[in-house]
Amino acid sequence: MKATAIAHPNVALIKYWGRKDEMLRLPTNGSISINLSEMTTTTTVEFSDTFTTDAITINDEVITNESDRAIKHLDRIRILAQSELKAKVVSKNNFPSSTGLSSSSSGFAALTIAGTQALGLELSEKELSILARLGSGSACRSIPDGWVEWKDAETSEESYASTIFPSDHWNLVDVVAVVSTEKKDVPTSMGQKLAQTSPFFEARQKSMQSKISELKKYISNRRFKSFGEIIEAEALNMHAVMITSSPSLIYWSTGTLQLMKQVQKWRTEGLSAYFTINTGQDTHILVQEENAHTLIEKLNKVSYVKKVIKNSISQGVHLSQTHLF
Ligand code: PMV
Repeated sequence: MKATAIAHPNVALIKYWGRKDEMLRLPTNGSISINLSEMTTTTTVEFSDTFTTDAITINDEVITNESDRAIKHLDRIRILAQSELKAKVVSKNNFPSSTGLSSSSSGFAALTIAGTQALGLELSEKELSILARLGSGSACRSIPDGWVEWKDAETSEESYASTIFPSDHWNLVDVVAVVSTEKKDVPTSMGQKLAQTSPFFEARQKSMQSKISELKKYISNRRFKSFGEIIEAEALNMHAVMITSSPSLIYWSTGTLQLMKQVQKWRTEGLSAYFTINTGQDTHILVQEENAHTLIEKLNKVSYVKKVIKNSISQGVHLSQTHLF
């Protein structure tokens, strides 16, 4: 009754910010993302009748609070499997958490697969994506492979993510620039609740569907400049909503802001690169494979960039035979 799963965090190119149903984590709009090859969450789950409580360790930190999201997620899995067994869970990320690198997407995707597998449940990719979504919205996009779309839907059964293009459709590179490992003040889950307090939220919503259609067209035709212009504008659009929500959410640090300006400057000097940012200071920069080396060389010379991670577009969550305990 033990299973281990490895999931990659995904970065949204068209983003989910705001929910029409808090409990079910139904987003107010669809989104598009890619899975990041070099970043992983590995999670081992074991259920046993010898355990008297759930014991969860995430990145060497023991979780004790009964109301914790991971325990609630185990409860969802137990209900599906009609089991009352307690679980031991050990989970590790190979990248910083709570700095804007979407560790909850890979975290809940890995917990969903390891947990359901450990209790012998056989679920389809769609069912797994729906289940992962209930733990953390963006986790539904770390289940399928490659380029992924999470469509806007009105019910839980229809709100799931699926592959729109395979990983090898277009060999773009996502270079993560870690500008600080300081943890964010407001967790994403809390921030999501504030989206609709921004006076710009309605305007953002009006543009989402056409942005999604346009981006899919540019991905399909591999038109990098048009692709890059959309994703960078989309990230700024979401952050405009965050900054103008009440209370205001500023997820950038000075390093983030400097890097955003630097990427735009590099573009005027001929390097075709575009940024996107989530809830945190760390920054994603997208380039075509032939420009990745130049970008990384430049980033390595920037004093406030602590670390770079070069990602290609990867498969979704998968099982592993190497357990963490
Ligand atoms: O799934 P959550 O609640 O962690 O929210 C994700 C929010 C963003 O990363 C900012 C956007 C997205 O679509 O991933």
